[in-house]
Amino acid sequence: MSAVAILVAAGRGERMGADRPKAFLDLGGQPLLLRSALAFEVAPSVQHIVAVVPEDETDVARGLLDSVTKLAAVVAGGARRQDSVLEGLKRVPDGFDGVVLVHDAARPLVDAELIENVVAAAAAVGAALPVLAVVDTVKRVRDGRVLETLDRCELAAAQTPQGFRFDLLVSAYEAAFRDRVTVTDEAMAVERLGSPVQAVPGSPRNRKITTAEDLAWAEGLVQAGAPA
Ligand code: CTP
Ligand code: MG
Repeated sequence: MSAVAILVAAGRGERMGADRPKAFLDLGGQPLLLRSALAFEVAPSVQHIVAVVPEDETDVARGLLDSVTKLAAVVAGGARRQDSVLEGLKRVPDGFDGVVLVHDAARPLVDAELIENVVAAAAAVGAALPVLAVVDTVKRVRDGRVLETLDRCELAAAQTPQGFRFDLLVSAYEAAFRDRVTVTDEAMAVERLGSPVQAVPGSPRNRKITTAEDLAWAEGLVQAGAPA
């Protein structure tokens, strides 16, 4: 099964509070975007990589992804994550019959094994994503008051890459945009159609870098010799 990877890196990284978008911040000598791209570069199923970046960073991104041989395009993103994904989807050739992977560039410690697991599950089921069990007890809270405790056994934290048969993701995105629904991940668009989404084991290392503390945590792993 062949796959195209869309790396979304067009967010502003407001919670990071740095002076540039977080995908361009350094982690052990490599920007997060390059580290993410290199994981897909070595994943055997992945044929092409499309990077989606802030409009004013397209030239910078092309330069820093210079060594990525599978790089097919660098395109400008949109206001919401799903707008950025849509720009990436436009670069997948019509009639492509493989799997499209969507990955947060802000998860730079993803590895090829996880990527291949998602591709295989997406090819078999139509859609797949990595998840981690939730370790804390989770409450539903409104205005500071606890409404209820959720059943932790049924809860999972979603990671990326999320993988889809191309035609299924296109249909799901068309429906979400037609219905003016904001989705926070791609699987949510597929769930709305009632199509099955397979959960595969995620990885603690594949954490999303959101705050300065997350970046410091990732630096610790990289210094300790975690694979790039
Ligand atoms: N993303 C994107 N386009 C957007 C918003 C987000 O491509 N309009 C990407 C981000 O670059 C990131 C991933 O989606 O790789 C996950 O988003 P998030 O962690 O929320 O990143 P930011 O939106 O950049 O951060 P923040 O919400 O703190 O501003
Ligand atoms: Mg965001």
